[in-house]
Amino acid sequence: MNSKHMEKTGIVATKETQNLESKTNGKAVIRIKDVCKSFGDNKVLNGFNMELYEGENVVVMGKSGSGKSVMIKCLVGLLAPDSGYIEVMGKEISTLDRQTLDELRSDIGFLFQGSALYDSMTVRENLEFPMRRHKEKLGYVSDTTSLVLEALENVGLAHTMDLMPTELSGGMKRRIALARTLILKPKIILYDEPTSGLDPITAKEIIELMRSIQNKYGTSSIIITHDVDCARVISERMILLVDGINYAEGTYAQLSVSKDPKVDAFFKK
Ligand SMILES: Nc1ncnc2c1ncn2[C@@H]1O[C@H](COP(=O)(O)OP(=O)(O)OP(=O)(O)O)[C@@H](O)[C@H]1O
Ligand SMILES: [Mg+2]
Repeated sequence: MNSKHMEKTGIVATKETQNLESKTNGKAVIRIKDVCKSFGDNKVLNGFNMELYEGENVVVMGKSGSGKSVMIKCLVGLLAPDSGYIEVMGKEISTLDRQTLDELRSDIGFLFQGSALYDSMTVRENLEFPMRRHKEKLGYVSDTTSLVLEALENVGLAHTMDLMPTELSGGMKRRIALARTLILKPKIILYDEPTSGLDPITAKEIIELMRSIQNKYGTSSIIITHDVDCARVISERMILLVDGINYAEGTYAQLSVSKDPKVDAFFKK
């Protein structure tokens, strides 16, 4: 946490957060240091810092337009920051050539805002797409069907294999997109608004799925969400992105009782 803002928000690392390193092997799989990113005069990130430790779920919350998606795109090399340092699994993103970046990306599952399925492809073809793109990671696969089925079974939708995305509901599409993310067995999953636009019951199902994936595969995740219930259930730690920086950081229990108006605003329904 930025010490100047820690002072301001009155949120201090408690024993619980101090112990986080030991709880999560203490190995940071992502380090973001002082990242700045502007578009013309629009300063979006202005010295953003965060770490993600192995095995943990960190929720990042911020107002619409605060730069959450920009941050996550910088993380996977889809956008280049103006300054700062980003390291993923020990590799500094800005120094990687295209091929190494591509290999690294096969270890990072990215669930885009919306589901971003290819509408002209069946569910099976949508899931085969990353397998073709990252052949070298999976090696020779004689039976793609069983991999596709395994991924679909993880999200409870094995029966949709030959359907087109237009035949699926919004919640189903979100789960298929998650299955597509799982097919490469990523070590890190980045979720951009996984529950937005879904009814509360379907949202809860998606949250349970995210938790079961974390337990089954030991993945580490950054979850961007506006959904306070999702944050409470899923996060080991939360980071609030305000004015381009990591304004406050702590557990749900710590942040939800903060007296700082900028922090408190996130927890008002
Ligand atoms: N490629 C781009 N070119 C120019 N401006 C951009 C680009 N991408 C994002 N921005 C701007 O950066 C700011 C942050 O956008 P971003 O998509 O990260 O917001 P967000 O926090 O994800 O919001 P939401 O919660 O609505 O998804 C916005 O002002 C947006 O207009
Ligand atoms: Mg966004």
